[in-house]
Amino acid sequence: MIYPIVKLGDPVLEKKAETVTEFDTPELHELIENMFETMYANRGVGLAATQIGISRRIAVIDSAAGEGPPQRLVLINPEIVRIEGKQVSEEGCLSVPGFREPVRRGARVTVRAQNVKGEPFEVTGEDLLARAFEHEIDHLNGKLYLSRLSPLKRDVIKRRVRKLQKEGEWA
Ligand code: NI
Repeated sequence: MIYPIVKLGDPVLEKKAETVTEFDTPELHELIENMFETMYANRGVGLAATQIGISRRIAVIDSAAGEGPPQRLVLINPEIVRIEGKQVSEEGCLSVPGFREPVRRGARVTVRAQNVKGEPFEVTGEDLLARAFEHEIDHLNGKLYLSRLSPLKRDVIKRRVRKLQKEGEWA
């Protein structure tokens, strides 16, 4: 099932998501499958549960982005344990469609998370994957990439979004 994506302006995106405490349930497996389906349908690299209006600490990522074999990654209750180096590259978000801005992130990011069975693991990503780790974990903490931009750039985007909302083109 493909969920509608929640967009900038919905309070769920600014709320810290809740820790997952029940694992390996049919409901959790199904939610994760639906999150992947929703992410692929929107050609995203990552999707946080908050982006489909579900305030739980779950993110799915596939940094293959449709090129080459899928590299599906499920992060439940993820935390960043290490950020090394720096990269600046254009970033967008399915919840802020039509906008892209350069954002500074770590070049190499290590995350600790749990899998669908609740087993803890650590994973290190570079480049796009490192960026996705930071971006999705930000979502679970109620933060959009806009918060990483200069106040000026952020205000320009917010004003343009408000205009789209008034015109009924930001549902
Ligand atoms: Ni996003």
